[in-house]
Amino acid sequence: MDRTFVMVKPDGVQRGLVGEIISRFEAKGLKLAGAKLELLPEARVVEQYREHLQKPFFPGLKTYIMSGPCFLMVWEGKGAVAVVRRMIGSTNPAEAAPGSIRGDFALDIGRNVIHASDSPESAARELGIHFASGELVDYSKIDEPVLYE
Ligand code: RTP
Ligand code: MG
Repeated sequence: MDRTFVMVKPDGVQRGLVGEIISRFEAKGLKLAGAKLELLPEARVVEQYREHLQKPFFPGLKTYIMSGPCFLMVWEGKGAVAVVRRMIGSTNPAEAAPGSIRGDFALDIGRNVIHASDSPESAARELGIHFASGELVDYSKIDEPVLYE
């Protein structure tokens, strides 16, 4: 099954949105494979966002992501990477569709509540940055025979 890396950013944690966000992914049928609350060290933030290192918004992005705890998760399911990207919505919450997480819970591109991997390659890379293999749990869920054809 496909796995994706998802992270509630510090604004989402401070605003008490972790439970609501988990509920949406659970209701969709995705399976939680790992989760933890962490203050991210600078090196992992830089690695996570290395494609943006030279962008003008990078210093602000780094300060934002390190401003408080993040809630890190791994979600598993058919097409999980693309499905979760659609569920979180466009990067700029002002353009994110209503019904998406950013569309429903954010206003500012610099405080957009949640991150999710943008491709299967990014998911594999980001999983490796943030989770040790022993932190991911392999298990069967009783709804799987009903969820999938
Ligand atoms: P993310 O990586 O956090 O899931 O967001 P994304 O793929 O939707 O967007 P990306 O282009 O990767 O940008 C990463 C994060 O940088 C912040 N950002 N600020 N002020 C700006 O113009 C600007 N542009 C991007 C956002 O927090 C964005 O999620
Ligand atoms: Mg991104």
